[in-house]
Amino acid sequence: MRCDCFLETVLSRSSVRWFRNDPIPDDVLLKIIEAGVRAPNAGNNEQWFFVVVRDSGLRGRIHELLLEAHEFYATRALKNPLPPDKVGKWVQRIRDGMYLAPAYIAGYVDLRKTTHVEGFFEKERVFAIQSVAAALENMILVAHSLGLGAVWLGVPLLLKSKFDEVLKPPEGCELQGIIALGYPAETPKARPRKPLSEVVKLI
Ligand SMILES: Cc1cc2nc3c(=O)[nH]c(=O)nc-3n(C[C@H](O)[C@H](O)[C@H](O)COP(=O)(O)O)c2cc1C
Repeated sequence: MRCDCFLETVLSRSSVRWFRNDPIPDDVLLKIIEAGVRAPNAGNNEQWFFVVVRDSGLRGRIHELLLEAHEFYATRALKNPLPPDKVGKWVQRIRDGMYLAPAYIAGYVDLRKTTHVEGFFEKERVFAIQSVAAALENMILVAHSLGLGAVWLGVPLLLKSKFDEVLKPPEGCELQGIIALGYPAETPKARPRKPLSEVVKLI
């Protein structure tokens, strides 16, 4: 079925990093999560698990860790670390409330039940990671279509065990990313992309 409004949703989405304090109604949050698990996933094995955080104390802990993780990323993970003044400004923005969201959704790979033979385990892991990514993207797009904003956060992967201490996923699940979600307190401009001619080969 042709649906131009969906294309409009995709094209108008930008990452949102500043959120209003308003809580997300249960039915809205549920729709977003349901959209996530409708994502294509390898073998329909649903090797994923999601931890949804709404508790204010836990959100505070996540936010503190997001500050630590972004600082770690900017100073230790990049080939060209950000200069100290830029790191300082970023950290200050986080202290001021950037990334503080009424809900976080953490996406985990759940490989407690595997379906592939031993030599293909690494492939199965990649399939599962890609499936979690598809689910997170579905959630972000549906959130945007419902008037919410979101940002996909990868830096928690740099401090996985610290995030796990707060999120307490089932044993054996591996964190792949966190979405910060809420009603936007900013209207970010679309970030540029490379021209298609640079990233596409049409054959
Ligand atoms: C795998 C992945 C990890 C990301 N990690 C972070 C992150 O840790 N912090 C952050 O502020 N944005 C993060 N982003 C958001 C990107 O910075 C953003 O998507 C990109 O700059 C393009 O901007 P746009 O989403 O507004 O189009 C991440 C996005 C992806 C897909």
